[in-house]
Amino acid sequence: MKTLTTLTIMAALATGSAGASAADNIKIEHIGVNNTYVRVNPDQKYVILPVQDGVDDARINLIVDGKTERTFYVRLAKSKVDFEVPFDLSKYKGHNVILDIRANHDRSSIRESQEEACWNLIRTSDTFDKTNRENFRPLYHHTPEYGWMNDPNGMFYHDGVWHLYYQWNPYGSKWQNMTWGHSTSRDLIHWTHEGTAIEPDGLGTIFSGSCALDPDNTVGYGKDAVVALYTSAADMQTQSLAGSTDGGITFQKYAGNPVLTLPTEARDPNMFYNPDTKLWTIVLAHALEHEVLFFTSPDLKTWTKTCSFGKVAAQGGVWECPDLFPLEIDGKKKWVLLLNLNPGGPFGGSATQYFIGDYDGKTFTSDTLADGTIPTKWMDFGKDHYATVSWSDAPDSRRTAIGWMSNWQYAADVPTLQYRSANTCPRDLSLFSDNGEIYLASVPSPELRKMRSKASVANVSFSAPAKGRTFALPKANDGICEIEFDIDASKKKGNTEIILSNEKGENVKIIYNAADNTISFDRKESGIVDFSIDFPAVTVAPTFTHDGRTSVHMLIDRSSIEMFAKDGRYAMTNLVFPNQPYSSMKVSSTAGAKISNLNIYPLNPSK
Ligand code: FRU
Repeated sequence: MKTLTTLTIMAALATGSAGASAADNIKIEHIGVNNTYVRVNPDQKYVILPVQDGVDDARINLIVDGKTERTFYVRLAKSKVDFEVPFDLSKYKGHNVILDIRANHDRSSIRESQEEACWNLIRTSDTFDKTNRENFRPLYHHTPEYGWMNDPNGMFYHDGVWHLYYQWNPYGSKWQNMTWGHSTSRDLIHWTHEGTAIEPDGLGTIFSGSCALDPDNTVGYGKDAVVALYTSAADMQTQSLAGSTDGGITFQKYAGNPVLTLPTEARDPNMFYNPDTKLWTIVLAHALEHEVLFFTSPDLKTWTKTCSFGKVAAQGGVWECPDLFPLEIDGKKKWVLLLNLNPGGPFGGSATQYFIGDYDGKTFTSDTLADGTIPTKWMDFGKDHYATVSWSDAPDSRRTAIGWMSNWQYAADVPTLQYRSANTCPRDLSLFSDNGEIYLASVPSPELRKMRSKASVANVSFSAPAKGRTFALPKANDGICEIEFDIDASKKKGNTEIILSNEKGENVKIIYNAADNTISFDRKESGIVDFSIDFPAVTVAPTFTHDGRTSVHMLIDRSSIEMFAKDGRYAMTNLVFPNQPYSSMKVSSTAGAKISNLNIYPLNPSK
């Protein structure tokens, strides 16, 4: 992380003799106690804004040739500078640009305003340094280059490329200024940052939504154009449409937006196209009513409501980010409705539940238990798996999903600044049955295996002693690794414990309890945990096995541990912030458990 000293030196350069150009490009006029005009010469690509984490937002009206072009919010530095953010000026070259900055806190005098740290450092530049400064930034999970990220949005696959959009604040590391950022990948490991895809406008900021290809040009952007639905969020939430004719890099918004208004909070439209009926199905979260609204549309401009489903299972605070797709089990097609809710998750805060049922093109009907009730089913039993939705148009009939790897309880407090939040690893979904019920299985997408280096522990089998057996974890690349093994604790009652730890004594405790058929994850001593009372926690998953046997497949990436059964029967995603990587794994058992097929793979994403 850049220190204030370096930034102060940069300020001196920017405002001193060497910075004549910067001084020419920026003119600061304090026109009132809480109001400053910054006149910017847009000859250079960016105006660089100094930010202090934790202070109030300043409201910035961007005035171009006397007209308000847009409004955005930045925590402009008052007493110290934590980091900087760039605002792109390239569109405004040759125009008169004023940043009309309104402080959100009450100052007592203009002098107080003049003394704030931001004014010496605000400057124009053709470059912005995006070099990673965060030790906790994962190496193979998707993160924004800088700024805050929440939900993944609008994912579609086309011509070998996985497109991933996301809720992005390009001007700070907390939720604000929602914009669709865009990244692409050919292997689900390496992500290329494509920049901004959809920016806020007069209808509001750009909340979550979905994209799909339009094979029959039903919307009017052309055959196979990429179409996007998203929520325009102002005082109320409305639904808007956009299309892209350059493969999803830039979008043209539909001039007739919004395409749907409702008198109550509704958001996160998710769609798919049925070529047989030539109709789109759209699911929309009716957030406060705890229901999902179903629509059909011939062109995404006029929508007909066909059913609502909800007020069942876990209802929590708000229902958000639905997704509907078919999967097969035993040759039979079933429909899966993903539904994210916050708060109300099994371990507090955010989580993803799902319903298995049938959809006839109009109505979704959930399977029920024998007594007629609709059960609550969780997709992931960790604390850091939210806003999960799937890619449309994925190849080979795959259903691949990705989630936001954080929790609204503390996402804005995690110990990173340059960026905040990563996505989970991409997961391939399928169905399985257990005790007459159908459930959703998640496994890491097979592409991730390409990162494996030669196993440092290969195919080891042993009886876990009560005092434990210890294995070294890989050191390379900050210890990022993949661990797999089977556990057989069918002979005797007792627990099997797996402890990951580092030299500082920080550790994660995983316990398989064969009597309860559960596996738990304790991160109370996992490293930095004190940034939120909701972070230190134990999460527990049913193993969906009943014979004292289960398996573990773990992916470790600097600040996250994702744990799955090998066949995906349970999934558990948890963040951890160890002060140094976990370096050993100790396996012990009071059940005399047999551990087999233990493999530890160092991971090398640069392969
Ligand atoms: C879910 C959510 C969505 C909304 C978006 C706003 O995390 O609240 O419902 O569209 O985030 O950023």
